[in-house]
Amino acid sequence: MEPRTITLHDCQFSTYMYEEEIIARIHMLAEQLEQDYAGKNPLFLAVLNGSFMFTADLMKRINMPCEISFIRMSSYQDMQSTGNVREVLGLTENIEGRDVVVIEDIVDTGHTVNALLQQLNEKQPASIEIITLLMKPECLQHQLDVKYVAKSIPNDFVVGYGLDYNGLGRNLRDIYKIVS
Ligand code: HPA
Ligand code: MG
Repeated sequence: MEPRTITLHDCQFSTYMYEEEIIARIHMLAEQLEQDYAGKNPLFLAVLNGSFMFTADLMKRINMPCEISFIRMSSYQDMQSTGNVREVLGLTENIEGRDVVVIEDIVDTGHTVNALLQQLNEKQPASIEIITLLMKPECLQHQLDVKYVAKSIPNDFVVGYGLDYNGLGRNLRDIYKIVS
């Protein structure tokens, strides 16, 4: 496929991962989840805003009893982590004794997920795992065991399929990488 280039704000981005590849990876992860959580009733906690598209496509492929809820927790401004991780917002479920699966769009420094896990663990769930669409292993600054990863990528800024650049790009069906 011919690469496509787009401009968002002041930056140029080029196609990096096409929708077909994303969906294929999601189907594999969904099968894995169905095996790992057979006979359980997992609670998926999707971290907004970035995970909305990933969450929708993932949940459409999960054929077992499960619950889904949305929380919010952002640490990102512009293109670099501020390190200012906020509190979990919007968690109304009682997660004590539940098998929780946190759905993320991207894990890079791990600051956000690390803080989230600390706060969730205080509420004594039976288990917690993380599923993420993208992971930047080069950036990771915490001891995190991310069990489900659709794709590991180098440390390049990406947008699309839920991920934004200063608010733009979340609606794109493919993932784009910044043109260096
Ligand atoms: N793109 C968009 N949002 C992000 C990224 C990225 O590469 N890394 C962390 N948040
Ligand atoms: Mg963002």
